[in-house]
Amino acid sequence: MSVETEKTKPAKAKTTKTKTTKTTKPKTTKTSVKPKKQIAVIDDGKPRVLLAAAEVNPFSQTGGLGEVASSLPVSANATGEATMAVVTPLYECVKEEYRKNFEFICHINVPVAWRNEYAGLFRYEYRGVIHYFIDNERYFKRPNLYGYYDDAERFSFFNRAILELMPFMDFKPNVLHANDWHTALLPIFYKQFYMNREGYEGMKTLITIHNIEYQGKYDGFLLEDVFGISGYEYYTLEWGGCVNLLYGAIAYSDLVSTVSRTYAQELRTAEHACGLENAIDRYADKLTGIVNGIDTEVYNPETAPSLFANYSAENPKAKAENKRGLQNLLGLPERSDVPMITMVTRLAGHKGLDILKSAMTDIVKEDVQFVLLGTGEPEYEGFFSDLQATYPDKVRALIMFNKDMSQKLFGAGDIYMMPSKSEPCGLGQMMAMRYGTIPIVRNVGGLNDTVTEGEDGNGFVATEHTSASLYEATKRAINAYHDKEKWAGIMHRSTSADWSWARSGKEYIEMYKKLLEK
Ligand code: GLC
Repeated sequence: MSVETEKTKPAKAKTTKTKTTKTTKPKTTKTSVKPKKQIAVIDDGKPRVLLAAAEVNPFSQTGGLGEVASSLPVSANATGEATMAVVTPLYECVKEEYRKNFEFICHINVPVAWRNEYAGLFRYEYRGVIHYFIDNERYFKRPNLYGYYDDAERFSFFNRAILELMPFMDFKPNVLHANDWHTALLPIFYKQFYMNREGYEGMKTLITIHNIEYQGKYDGFLLEDVFGISGYEYYTLEWGGCVNLLYGAIAYSDLVSTVSRTYAQELRTAEHACGLENAIDRYADKLTGIVNGIDTEVYNPETAPSLFANYSAENPKAKAENKRGLQNLLGLPERSDVPMITMVTRLAGHKGLDILKSAMTDIVKEDVQFVLLGTGEPEYEGFFSDLQATYPDKVRALIMFNKDMSQKLFGAGDIYMMPSKSEPCGLGQMMAMRYGTIPIVRNVGGLNDTVTEGEDGNGFVATEHTSASLYEATKRAINAYHDKEKWAGIMHRSTSADWSWARSGKEYIEMYKKLLEK
């Protein structure tokens, strides 16, 4: 679709398939024709949830949020108990294979404090879920999703645009589900500007905290200049001497959730809450913890195309082919009897890399192979690259982010390393268990809710954040690996457990229902 066509026919374009959105609209086009508003739906009382997220797999993703935003709606819609749609920015990275089928709905001008900004709305149905994409090239046509000097303005625009464009969406929500700081302004804007407007009444708001480390903290002057919120509201959004968007969303939302039961508890402690513990405590009656699921269609050892050989929980024999395949690919000795430890991670201290780094001195002395995939802090990238150079028969450091390779590591490993210092939920340990790769974790957050050690255990737990505790747990895992019967039992328990969204999706639906009763 050319820029000209869009400019002159915004309303008509609703029924037009876009050939390409490469030439999506310039930023400040004036709308000459008022786009058509959508007709309201008949209310059957069931939750109709508009999930807003700054990243959604497979369109854009840097971490676990993108996984959750894509798989929770698919599973909720499959139940028929609730319907979910997703709204997300149209970033540069959204692939042409999807874009070419986008439907252009309309474009309008959206207030960003004292200015107006172009906002285009696209619609695309994917795996039974309506996805709305909000377009503004100035804000979103950039190489990365986050990390820009104007992130506050970019996401302020995004949240404002969601609300302004809502009348033009064919999905009529009764729940607005925000996720992390990027969409924290959604419940805030809703209550500040929209809840009493015609067509917007009666919606409930929820914020899910996927990681409290990122809060959206800004100087007070942004309140009026960027967010367009009156200075009189400063103290409803202030925490720790600045505007804190996540805090604001916790205060403004009808419910607050986080991604595991243990993390919900931990958020009330200074150790895990990054300064928001007292805020969480104040609103504790609004807080629920629901452990995430994983997308068991995508992470399925029976079908995953990246594996060297597919296998099932009932018949995991072919898993061995994956270990051999990876050893061969990476030039490691092709041995079936050596326990292979794999790890897919962001290379950051809080992912436990600090204790792992010192524990590696002892781990490499064992008869093991260790394969790591990830990028991050230069200290760790350098350390593991050097370790590979020193132990070429034991260690591989793949300093990259690669989904195909991560599946290979889940398939090939015997043991999966995930010693996070703090882990709101963690998806890697569940993906690994689904592939029969037994996790070593710390007993924190979602790791604590999903991995247990002992008689009926499915993994190994380091109970302290020390390299000694991690090494001991690794040693226990290596010993268990050599006890064939014991290992088969652990593998069976981990592969046969239900890690799908069917389980946690139900809990979300219950939460949405509870929200509607409020
Ligand atoms: C964040 C958390 C991670 C969680 C994911 C999805 O990335 O760090 O623990 O699994 O969000 O909720």
